[in-house]
Amino acid sequence: MAEASFSIIQNVLSLQTALVGLIAFLVALWYFRRPKCLPPGPWFFFPGKKAHLEMTELSRQFGKIYSIGVGPILVGVVINDAESFREAFITKGEQFIDRNIPPLIKWIAPIEGSFLFENGTLYKERRRFGMHAFRAFGVGQRSLEARINEEARHLCDLLDQQDEEAINPIPFFSKAVSNIICSISFGRRYDYTDPEFNALLGRFRENEGLITFQSFANFLPFLYKLPMYDQHRENFRKTRAFIEGMIEEHKNTFDRSDMRDIIDMYLDEMQRQKEEGASIVFNERSMWRSILDLFGAGSDTSTNTLLWGLLFICYDPPIQSKIQAELDRVIGTERPPSMKDRAELPYTTATIAEMLRVRPAAPMTLRGACSDVKVGDYIIPKGTTVFGNIWAVNHDPELWDDPDKFNPERFLSEDGKEYVHNPNLVTFGAGRRICLGKQLAEMELFLFLTNLLQRFSVSFPPDQLNPDTEGILGMGHNPRPYKVCLKQR
Ligand code: HEM
Repeated sequence: MAEASFSIIQNVLSLQTALVGLIAFLVALWYFRRPKCLPPGPWFFFPGKKAHLEMTELSRQFGKIYSIGVGPILVGVVINDAESFREAFITKGEQFIDRNIPPLIKWIAPIEGSFLFENGTLYKERRRFGMHAFRAFGVGQRSLEARINEEARHLCDLLDQQDEEAINPIPFFSKAVSNIICSISFGRRYDYTDPEFNALLGRFRENEGLITFQSFANFLPFLYKLPMYDQHRENFRKTRAFIEGMIEEHKNTFDRSDMRDIIDMYLDEMQRQKEEGASIVFNERSMWRSILDLFGAGSDTSTNTLLWGLLFICYDPPIQSKIQAELDRVIGTERPPSMKDRAELPYTTATIAEMLRVRPAAPMTLRGACSDVKVGDYIIPKGTTVFGNIWAVNHDPELWDDPDKFNPERFLSEDGKEYVHNPNLVTFGAGRRICLGKQLAEMELFLFLTNLLQRFSVSFPPDQLNPDTEGILGMGHNPRPYKVCLKQR
């Protein structure tokens, strides 16, 4: 009897627990329900290994603007077409100036000082400084052109010294491009065999593999404290220590009348703020973060674009012949290329635009709505994360014929004599937070590619059949390793 009544009590209790659970679940559903004004979208979306393709595919089903969520929890709104992209990020740019980021970013390191992730007035000050610093170090000017050409010469010399028939170009291009960031940040370049330099780049490379776009830690950031991320934390700590060491060295040799690089400019800005009693936006605590972001944003992006370009050029040898014919006619072999030549090199310029279109190094940009704001037919509520799907815009079949084909001619006038800018190319983002390094990247892509093809002809080794052109999505979009043969021209 006692046993029977105990079992009844138990059943009532478990029913009660189930009921409480159900009510809590319904309340949670109601609390996190997606606002009605949002565009429709899939009930459940978790990014896979090809998130940029999956998100582009979803726009076929749900329309150019759709929302994604995990169950009732809204993750964000995805913008997939050029018109809405411009409406949101340019016309209504001030309302989308914030960058919403996965919580994990803040677990990895404080974002104070970050060019990429900071928001608000601090960010505006930081961006103003960044633009000023880039200009001061010759972005768009001959001084930087000379530095990039010098780096390209080192790169080509090293490529020339390789004994093997075929090489993997990735480490060579990565070192050359990273040296440009070293040059403007630390005032120096490194020899390609320098152990400190190789360790720095090795840590970046390793960390790129440890946390990707699809990592669970993006959604459950406390996972970052688990031992599986020990190596990431250790690499991050060492990289920070390296940059702080550089800052310390600069402090000891700082001379206001001789600005060597961005660290010096930062020190100068700190001093100026102190003297003027202005609020301290620039401080020692956060300086390392700004420098780190230049590496984070500016190294793999330009490197990967060059590597993608080289891959597609090797796939289609007539493209290479056309570029080289132009280079021979306009530059010859006796002098290095100059940005001024670009106007007379429409086919080369069109090829670079096509490299940027077909494989955008950052296929997605992240923003946040600063107020309730209408885009297209939908109101995006304040605070919503907005994904600008660069890949979808760059591959929109309504804007680009045969969008998956690598075809530089699409950026040429009908007679093929002029490069034609196309505003639907959104690889650097758009509006207030458009890539800070756009001009620098354009110089790098042009000068590295022209120096290389001026000196070498590039092809696939005969035993390498159809190297992959889909790549791997990490934090950016990386090509898989491939090999090329370089022949002196
Ligand atoms: C081909 C090379 C590159 C590509 C494709 C690229 C692409 C992008 C994209 C898509 C964004 C986000 C823009 C937006 O939200 O609208 C961005 C932001 C940024 N990029 Fe680049 N980037 C490249 C090279 C560089 C370089 C060389 C640097 C500097 C050394 C750089 C520094 C930055 C910074 C600091 C931001 C953040 C800007 C902000 O939030 O205000 N990028 N880039």
